Amino acid sequence: FAQQEKEKTLAGRKVVITAGGTVERIDPVRYITNDSSGKMGFALARAASRLGAEVTLIAAKTDVPPPPDLKVVRVQSAADMYEAVLGEWADCDILIKAAAVADYRPAERAETKIKKAGERMTLELVKTIDILETLGRSKTTQFLIGFAAETGNAEEYAKDKLARKNCDLIVANDVAEPGAGFGVDTNRVSVYDRNGLVESLPLMSKDDAAERILDIAARRAAGALL
Ligand code: CTP
Ligand code: CA
Repeated sequence: FAQQEKEKTLAGRKVVITAGGTVERIDPVRYITNDSSGKMGFALARAASRLGAEVTLIAAKTDVPPPPDLKVVRVQSAADMYEAVLGEWADCDILIKAAAVADYRPAERAETKIKKAGERMTLELVKTIDILETLGRSKTTQFLIGFAAETGNAEEYAKDKLARKNCDLIVANDVAEPGAGFGVDTNRVSVYDRNGLVESLPLMSKDDAAERILDIAARRAAGALL
């Protein structure tokens, strides 16, 4: 208890965080997914809770279990995640899309295990719904934060995504950089708004990065007193 109590800058706020990689089923034993440990999303959820927010964590496939003391909704596919997010959206103050959502899913989901046949096989994929972009079009007072995991050119892609998805902030990280990739406990992120760079944070723990991101959001979200 030597640690100083954090100021409850998110007291009374509803914060929704998505984490993990969505799972798009091919058949009962196979699926397509993205790399995502869930750690950054979990760190954000814990930090929001420390800052006094009412937190809902919507978690797809993760390497580590979600924090046991938070409200967690488990989902599989991008479509499931969209449905879960929509259920929390109307009275949400801050929504953070840290999840790695699959961009494509199998066009058909086989009911039974697909049997091995010829030398080649083709899997037809169709686009999933872009959850962030869809929310961006319908947002009113919600403060929307997107993530952009890139391998090079992070700034350019992040700014483009922010504009395209009508986000209030985009958190970019170059996943090819040491210490900033998947599965590790550290991250090096840069935060952008529609005017450009807000803050370029040094390499730090995901917990510390989460707190810095939420500090920025708490100051900027609608009705903020700070
Ligand atoms: N996202 C989403 N729904 C999707 C795809 C992405 O909500 N179907 C969200 C992610 O959760 C993230 C942000 O959009 O917050 C950016 O995701 P990213 O994969 O970097 O962007 P894409 O627009 O999918 O572009 P690309 O993968 O081609 O870089
Ligand atoms: Ca994508």
